[in-house]
Formats: sequence, C-alpha cells, structure tokens
Amino acid sequence: MSDRRRLLPLLGANRHGSRDSMTCLYRCGNACDHPVPNTSDNQYLGDMISTEVSRRGVVRAGAIGALVLGVGGSLAGAGAASAAPAGTTADVPEVDFAARQQSGSRALTFKAVPPNKLDSLIVPNGYDHSVVLRWGDEVVPGAPALDVHNQTGARQSKQFGYNNDFVGVLPLTSSGKRVLLVVNHEYTNEDLMFPGFTSQDALTVEQVKAAMAAHGLSVVELERVDDTGEYRVRDNGSRKYNRRITALATKFDVTGPAAGSAYLQTAADPKGRTVIGTLNNCAGGITPWGTVLSGEENFNQYFVGGNEASADVKAKLSRYGIDTTNRYPSGSRKWERADERFDLAKHPNEANRFGWIVEVDPFDPESRPRKHTALGRFKHEGANVIVAKNGHVVAYMGDDERFDYLYKFVSDKKFEKGNSNKAREHNLTLLESGTLYVAKLGYTSAAEIDGSGKLPSDGAFNGQGQWIKLVSGDQSFVEGMTAAEVLTFTRLAGDKVGATKMDRPEDVEPSLATGKVYVALTNNTARGTGSNPKADEANPRTSNRHGHILELVEDGGDNTSLTFTWSLPIVCGDPADPATYFSGYDKTKVSPISCPDNVAFDSVGNLWISTDGNALGSNDGLFVTPIEGPEKGHLKQFLTVPVGGETCGPFITSDDRSVFVAVQHPGEISGASLENPASNWPDGDFAKPGVVVTWRVDGGPIGA
Ligand code: FEO
Ligand code: CA
Ligand code: CA
Repeated sequence: MSDRRRLLPLLGANRHGSRDSMTCLYRCGNACDHPVPNTSDNQYLGDMISTEVSRRGVVRAGAIGALVLGVGGSLAGAGAASAAPAGTTADVPEVDFAARQQSGSRALTFKAVPPNKLDSLIVPNGYDHSVVLRWGDEVVPGAPALDVHNQTGARQSKQFGYNNDFVGVLPLTSSGKRVLLVVNHEYTNEDLMFPGFTSQDALTVEQVKAAMAAHGLSVVELERVDDTGEYRVRDNGSRKYNRRITALATKFDVTGPAAGSAYLQTAADPKGRTVIGTLNNCAGGITPWGTVLSGEENFNQYFVGGNEASADVKAKLSRYGIDTTNRYPSGSRKWERADERFDLAKHPNEANRFGWIVEVDPFDPESRPRKHTALGRFKHEGANVIVAKNGHVVAYMGDDERFDYLYKFVSDKKFEKGNSNKAREHNLTLLESGTLYVAKLGYTSAAEIDGSGKLPSDGAFNGQGQWIKLVSGDQSFVEGMTAAEVLTFTRLAGDKVGATKMDRPEDVEPSLATGKVYVALTNNTARGTGSNPKADEANPRTSNRHGHILELVEDGGDNTSLTFTWSLPIVCGDPADPATYFSGYDKTKVSPISCPDNVAFDSVGNLWISTDGNALGSNDGLFVTPIEGPEKGHLKQFLTVPVGGETCGPFITSDDRSVFVAVQHPGEISGASLENPASNWPDGDFAKPGVVVTWRVDGGPIGA
C-alpha cells in the first residue's frame, strides 16, 4: 500500500490549475489532500475590530487591547549576539549587494509571449536563451557524468541536483564577467529519475541516497560568453567555489535562541546544535552582504512514524502537516531505510530540525551553512532581506500553506557597509539575533467582500495592518510559550496571537528601489469552502484558483515599522474575467496570469513574477510589470517553460542584460517515467530540470 505509483490517478490528472497530481505527490506530499493544518479558530483583525482607518491611516483597534502595538515604533530588542562564524576570510568583491535597484521605470516594449502548451522554452522575438546547467551536470570538478542506471549518493553529491528552484547570481567581479550561480534543489521525482521505477520500497538504499543527494543546493562559477548576456559554466581555472550542499551529508550549524534547546536534541546530536542536511529548499534571496538564504519548505513529507508520538507532540506535528495517524503517510519517500532519523518513532525531535531559513556563504566554500532559529520555523518559502533606513536588516517571509501567515524578522544589530572581512564577519551574524513578527491585516471595505472578486466601491482591495511581536531574543511575547517554543513551533504562536490567514504566501520580497514589499499569494481553492475561513479583503475570492499579488507599504517608509498599509495591485486570472484586477490598467493589453509564486525586480524596479500551476491551460511562465507610474499593471508574459514544468527562480542581473530562470519538474505528468517521458526538454531524451539564461540578441536591456 506504500507504492507511490499505485496512488497516482489517471494520466495527466490535474489538481489545482494545470499542476499535475504527480507534482502534488512529490513536491508537497499531496498537501491539498490533507486537512488544512491551520485548525486554529484565531480571529483576525478584520473580525475583531472596526475596519475603519483613521485619517493617519492607523488601525482603530480599541477592542484588541494588548495585541495593539505602538504606532510607528521601531525596535531594538536585546538578544545576546553569538560569536562570529569562524573563518570569514572569503574573498568577496567590492559589490554593493544592497543597491541593485534604482527607482524609476523603463517602458516594456517587447512583444508578449502568448499562452501555449509547447514542450519548449519560449522567449520573445529578439531574445535567445541557453541551458546553463541541468540535472546531473558536473558541479564539483571531476564529477562523473549522469548515468541513470548507476546513480549513487556519492556520484549525485558531485552533480547538479534535481528540481532546481531558487536562483541567485552573485558577481565575482564588478564587471559581472564571472559570477557565482546558487541554486536550490527542492525535491526529487523518483518516477522520472530511476529506470524501471515501481515503488519507493523497490529502490535500493543506494538509490535512496542518490535522491537525498539530489536535494539541497549547488554553487557553480559561471562566465559571460563574449560580451553577451549569455553565461556558461566556467570550465577552466580553479573552480574553487563549486560546491554541492545536500540532504545526505552536509552539516549545518544551528544558530539563535532555539539552538541547543530540548526540542532540537537527538540521539545523534545531544547538544541540538548540528543538523545533517537540508530539505525541500524552495525559494530564497541574496543578502546585502553577499550570502544566500534558502527556505526549507515541505519538510513534513520526509518523515514517518508520527503515529507513535505522544499526544502533545502529535498536536505540534499535525500543525506542520505531518501525518500522525499512519505509520507510513501516503506517498512516503521511505528515507528511513537509508537513515533512521527520518523515523519519528525513533527520533521524535528530528522533524524540528527542518523548516528553518538556511544561510549559505557562497564566497567561502569551506564555510558551514547555518540554520537560523531566530527567523522561526514553518514551511518557509524563502526570505528576502532589506537594510532599513535605521540600519537594522529586515527579512520578509511567507509560510506556504493554505491559511498560513506572513512574517518579518528585524535584526538586533545594524548592517555594516562594505565587504571588508571585518564588516562581513559582523554582517554574517545579523540573522542570529532579533525580533520575529507575524502580520495581522485590517480592511477598508470588509462588508463589501462577497467572495466574487468584485472590486469594492472605494476602488481597491486595501487596508492597514500591524506586525505582532512574537519573540525577541530569549523573550517570548506569546502567552504560555517559551522563546524556544515560539521559534520552533512558530505556527502555533501565530495562531495564538490571531495572525491573518492568507492564501498560501509564497515569495515575499521588498523592492530595494522603494522599500515596498510584494507578496505572491499563489492560490487557495479551499478559501470559503466548507468550514474554512471565508473570503476577506486581502484574500477576496472564494475557491481562489488564480492567486494574487499583495503590496505592503511600511508606515513612514521604515521597514522596521510596526504598522503598514497594504493593497492588491494584481488579482490574477484571465483578464477577460471580471474577478481580475491589474491596477486599473487596460485589461485588453494584459497577459493572462495564474498562480504567482516567485517575484524579483530588475534594476529599474519592475516587478517580475513567475508562476506555478497555471489554471488557465497554458504552460507556466515569467511575467513582468511596472509597479510604479502610469504603466503599473501592464503585465506581459516574457517567457514560458516546457510542458509539465514550473517557472522558478527568476533572477535579473544588475546590468539588466540577463534573465535566469529555473525550469522545475519538466514533464512531471502522471503516468510519465524515465523511459516514457512526457517532456523531452532540454536534450531530446528524458526530461531534466535545468537553469536557463535568456538575453537580448542585440545586447540591450531586458524588456525594453
Ligand atoms: Fe515550493 Fe511554495 O513553493
Ligand atoms: Ca477597500
Ligand atoms: Ca515556490
């Protein structure tokens, strides 16, 4: 009964949007089949208070008493700083990672790519693209070639991993001639990776180890091709930065207030400070000090034995989507056959060691990556950092689950400019201590929201909001929970303070040009169904199939503010559908878009959006829209990915000459296999996830 294939529905059966059931199975362990993990009856701001806004735009919140925080306050917080990581002698170029964007706009004149179902990567006229890396390519010098008949943990640990998601590009030289590409490998699909696959049980332990090694991250040095926007893997020189980080063997240090707590201690790590591996790394971000953050997302699906936990532990496991009824949850990967720590019956704390934000220093190949407990534990989509005006750094984060929350972290310490070893050593500690907040949203038109997506009479889905303090250093602000509990079981803390239940918050990214924050809310077909929470102004459609974008503006332009206003600049779908909105732009000129997932910015602050699970019948794609000025909402499709695939990553280089995307799970369609692939991309044989770079043939800036 544990055979994953037997659980698969008919060929090409869709779940939500065009996302195939095979993707649901492998990527998130059929999260949508399980009960909504957030069963809390927390009422949120819109229910509890008058939804009026005062003239100053401040929430009038008399009824919520202690939950209301000081207006416009900043924070400093105590919190003991831990020692700087050892060995911060990386050779980092004098590049200002925090100043990539300017405020402004540039007309987007390219001809939009139409929706399509082609098994190709399609770019606009006048553009070209190439595959930079695909599954199995050499990362560590001397890696063996991909041989699907003989994959082992050791071989895969040197090769490019599977199902690339986040893409970051960090310059090694100020000219951008050489760069470091950092990529997440979110999950594996054994049906499409191993010949003759029948079930997880039938895989050899060595194949399981290969799958574990195909998770994690890759760091690879690239070089520009001539003077174009194209990049290729550097195949000469030392390649000393090239590195694989895996779920199989890479050691991580745990930092922050929950490090060493009883919740993180295991038989193999009685101190609770060192974890082997990282799981389900989804999106991420580049920090102003030149490191990469990566979110551990659907970690729940890798564990078995939750049925044997105590009642108290079961409640915590359930809130994180871990099955507590069956020894083997449906779709189990059976990794405990290779490593018993994935059996919660033997090692009940092991699940607590995943679900964190991971920081990797790609400039120091010897550095040990870290899991930062100060940023909380949930199904982290990713984290994106901005330096606030007062010098503290702020990380914005989403918990990608139906009806889960938006968070931000504010560092205790201030960012130090420059890339000297001293500055960098300091900046590498910024995410180890600070304050974690969760968002509560208020509304301006609550009474008008009927779930249809009809725009309220004040012309906007909008409102105000506040950041509720959960924990600062070792001090908890959540009744009945210690700081370590708040950080390790952050979802439960969010429930207690009445955070706003959102439609799957994916990427949450500040524009470095304006400080405004953009949230991709990908979809939530459970919204307003059964006993689930009804539509509200921030999640205004019942059975939300197409998702929306939320813009969050911190009061006073201060990213450490405790209050903000928000609006929905884009409500996705077919522009002909009246339940869509594109900032009032002429809908006849807008590309259809569905299921926004990752967001990014170019150097003039245009918003780029990639999609996961187009519910309009087209392949997924990458879109761009100006987000300021008269062209705001003029959304155009820039590229589409091959059949079955998802568009991940997007990254636009600071010179606007190159757009990178990750093509994740091409050909992931039920019934497909290695021998009978549903996609032949990119090499004409079986499907392989890969990273693509796109550039303008005439060398001009992308999009213009
Ligand atoms: Fe892995 Fe939230 O997408
Ligand atoms: Ca309104
Ligand atoms: Ca994602």
